[in-house]
Amino acid sequence: MPSLMGILSKSLLIFPIVWGLLFSNSGYLSTHSSHFSPSDTSQVPSSFGFGRLATQAEIDRIDIDVRPDGKGLPQGKGVAAKGKLIFATKCVACHGAGGIGGPNGSLVHSQVEPTKKRAEKTIGNYWPYATTVFDYIRRAMPFNAPGSLTNDEVYHLTAYLLSANQIIDSSFVVTPATLPTIKMPAQPLFVPDDRKGGPVIK
Ligand code: HEC
Repeated sequence: MPSLMGILSKSLLIFPIVWGLLFSNSGYLSTHSSHFSPSDTSQVPSSFGFGRLATQAEIDRIDIDVRPDGKGLPQGKGVAAKGKLIFATKCVACHGAGGIGGPNGSLVHSQVEPTKKRAEKTIGNYWPYATTVFDYIRRAMPFNAPGSLTNDEVYHLTAYLLSANQIIDSSFVVTPATLPTIKMPAQPLFVPDDRKGGPVIK
């Protein structure tokens, strides 16, 4: 019986020989392996013959970013009471009852636990813009089904999380006009990065 090591060492010997026979005369190896460098695009074809241009509808579906000043917010509105119900079905398993203490992190600021040195980072104490709470939830949550929420559901959830963090009153109606007016407690903690390049140290 041939030993495993014997088989392995033989196949390792044969492999480069077969490879060499197959490719020694091909233009691919001679042009690409010896002279080709990543910055040299002269040998790259203009098209690889697959794929197609994205349709406008496909682009629109993912072109949904909302900026800190609120640019990009869609029509719709939300209130905390409705958000609370949605949260209880679609978010609570990962973010805990009332947004506190779930396996994927708290979203609502609470007392610092006596065993911890500092508070967990949440929307209440570590999020610079109310508008980007909407943006983040719409794009990324629920984690297991991103993109599945309607715009109104995202407005309701945003209202709920801002209200649970005591940033807005529970009767506040979140709309594209009102959301950018909300000042987040953590905003002063964030410094605009206005470095122009080079070794600038703040
Ligand atoms: C299956 C688990 C899961 C579910 C369900 C879920 N999330 Fe999350 N969530 C996560 C994970 C994981 C992260 C961290 C993701 C990361 O850091 O990339 C996160 C992060 C977040 C954050 C950012 C927190 C921060 O401080 O950075 C928000 C806001 C959020 N989720 C809201 C929601 C809302 C609202 C829902 C319900 C619609 C929801 N999540 C449902 C797993 C989940």
